[in-house]
Amino acid sequence: MANYKITLLKGDGIGPEIVNQAVKVLDKAAEKFGFGVEYDEALLGGCAIDATGVPLPDETVAKCKASDSVILGAVGGPKWDTLPGNKRPEAGLLGIRGALGLFANLRPSVIFGPLKSASPIKDDIIGDNMDIMIVRELTGGIYFGERGRKEVEGQPAAWDTEMYTVPEIERIARVAFDLAMKRNKKLTSVDKANVLESSRLWRETVINVSKDYPEVELNHMYVDNCAMQLVRNPKQFDVIVTSNIFGDILSDEASMIAGSIGMLASASLSEGKLGLYEPIHGSAPDIAGLGIANPLATILSVAMMLRYSLNQPKAAEAIEAAVAKTLETNRTPDIYEDGMNKVSCEEMGDLVCAAL
Ligand code: IPM
Ligand code: MG
Repeated sequence: MANYKITLLKGDGIGPEIVNQAVKVLDKAAEKFGFGVEYDEALLGGCAIDATGVPLPDETVAKCKASDSVILGAVGGPKWDTLPGNKRPEAGLLGIRGALGLFANLRPSVIFGPLKSASPIKDDIIGDNMDIMIVRELTGGIYFGERGRKEVEGQPAAWDTEMYTVPEIERIARVAFDLAMKRNKKLTSVDKANVLESSRLWRETVINVSKDYPEVELNHMYVDNCAMQLVRNPKQFDVIVTSNIFGDILSDEASMIAGSIGMLASASLSEGKLGLYEPIHGSAPDIAGLGIANPLATILSVAMMLRYSLNQPKAAEAIEAAVAKTLETNRTPDIYEDGMNKVSCEEMGDLVCAAL
């Protein structure tokens, strides 16, 4: 029987509540599909700052590296907002992405049928099965480039650097082409090649990689146009591949098109099997501890983990189906609609387990 070691980074705010529900669902899936799961916990973000003085303790990196996969809740909160940049909880998040080599960030934007009315975009524009996969480069570009402060003509100034190497672009492009091959074979590469040299290299490199994927229809789009096209006609997209910062921005936009940010999962993958799985929403400190957080994005992140890192596709599908079924009649407050059964974070976890 396969036995997996999972590190839990519960983090801050609603992180612990939502991860606890995801663990419950994973345990249930393990029982049903005949595999074992062992958990270990480690600190990341604000809770790590409070306990150890740094947002990413060495011990956390070591534990994650020794595991098959990592589940992350969320990090950050007002308590740590005034700390300097490299001491903030977010620095822990960037640090763990770098330390584990998590270069490929998969952010699906899908609409669960019963939630269609939650999207601010008109029904006929979204269509019946909006399903976009954003592939964001996660360990390069301006997030990891050199930065600093200096003086220009006697005035204080600051600078950041966007730089990509060909191998960095090639490996993220391959992830995106491989995904497109398993989906509708359409890939949109997003850049700003009319202005940025790094984007011109990005585009050239993606075109070179495309020669290995003759079946995939590749097109290129400037990032400003893509932001517009996402609301104008989201149905035109299948897989989108883009840089770290453009992916950060476009994935927030795409999540809103899908209705509720409380529903969307993500996977961050390395060159090996190790992946980090987290909801794309934040730590929601305003509702932490009230028991009303929506655990579904984290539960769906577990499904992604089963699919991409643990090679248990049947269990992944079963969890996704259980979530869809549960949503037919039950809602947490963030996605509540008249006539539905309003449930707590914990009840939602229990209902998904029951549906499984
Ligand atoms: C995300 C977040 C992070 C990012 C922040 C919290 C550093 O916005 O995962 O999209 O910009 O990558
Ligand atoms: Mg973001």
